[in-house]
Amino acid sequence: METLLTESAETAAAVIRNGGVVAFPTETVYGLGANVFDSDAVCRIFAAKMRPADNPLIAHISERGQIESLSRELTPSAERFIEAFFPGPLTIVVRRSDRVSDVATAGLDTIGIRMPRFEIAHRFITACGVPVVAPSANLSGRPSPTTWEAVFEDLNGRIDCILQGDATEIGLESTVVDCTTDAPKLLRLGSVTLEQLQEVVPATIAAAIGDMDALRSPGLRHKHYSPRAEVALVSGPSDISLTADSQTAFIGISPSGREFGLERICASVDEYAHIVFEFFRECDRQGITAIYCQSVPDTGLGAALMDRLRRAAEG
Ligand code: TXA
Ligand code: MG
Repeated sequence: METLLTESAETAAAVIRNGGVVAFPTETVYGLGANVFDSDAVCRIFAAKMRPADNPLIAHISERGQIESLSRELTPSAERFIEAFFPGPLTIVVRRSDRVSDVATAGLDTIGIRMPRFEIAHRFITACGVPVVAPSANLSGRPSPTTWEAVFEDLNGRIDCILQGDATEIGLESTVVDCTTDAPKLLRLGSVTLEQLQEVVPATIAAAIGDMDALRSPGLRHKHYSPRAEVALVSGPSDISLTADSQTAFIGISPSGREFGLERICASVDEYAHIVFEFFRECDRQGITAIYCQSVPDTGLGAALMDRLRRAAEG
């Protein structure tokens, strides 16, 4: 299959309307989209990514009115999160309507909904004329793509089109919160923090590790975010457990003063989150065998970053 590269949101949207799959930029990471009501197209997302069929997709919308076609009833907490955080990097999980493809939700009776705030994503989804279901546009298990070139690296020849936009702004995937229960439950950390959710709905809780309900977010069971290199968390560049040589890499916020094959010192946690997945990919391109990632405090965006780093280190 020839993958069309285009900077035109309208050209890319025409591919969706014809039943194709298209990678597109959002403020979090690039997504791989299809028409939420077209089961054949949605199946092709799973095939292209080699994604396990039990991992549900998020539906992306460009206006509030599109929610009606996805969900019949919104809980008061869902309403409040929409009011406070749409458009933006928050996905709400709500009861789904029958119109939505079963393939998209992996057979669950719920669906994740998000309204991206990136302008190009907004134009693209609007031109599609339907909600667009999309997982991150990487091969399953690989780091999420934050540039169109990273999408190309994983999926060229496997998808119909890439909408070429800028690098994403945040660099980590959206926060996911389950709004179907009385107390909304945080399923995945992102740049919207638990504290920010609690300011809007005080009853919101974090899903405990090993919590049976956390299995409602099947993606949490799968291997994630892994470069081919080994990933290890370290306290800093002088951590005694690390070896600095041409085969190893370091990313963090403290200057290292040591000779790594590849090194990235970030000015802030925001910059660290923004660049980390691309850094992982660059390490793989250069044949790095071990990547040392400096731990940061588990607060604000740092909590989401640490979540991704821990998963990558488990991988
Ligand atoms: O920022 C993002 O969320 C990006 C961009 C493209 O929007 N998308 C993304 O999709 O990261 P994906 O498929 O890589 O991750 C979606 C996560 C998975 O952990 C999945 O299990 C969970 O959301 N999820 C989706 N639908 C769900 C549902 N109905 N119930 C529980 N969890 C759900
Ligand atoms: Mg993903």
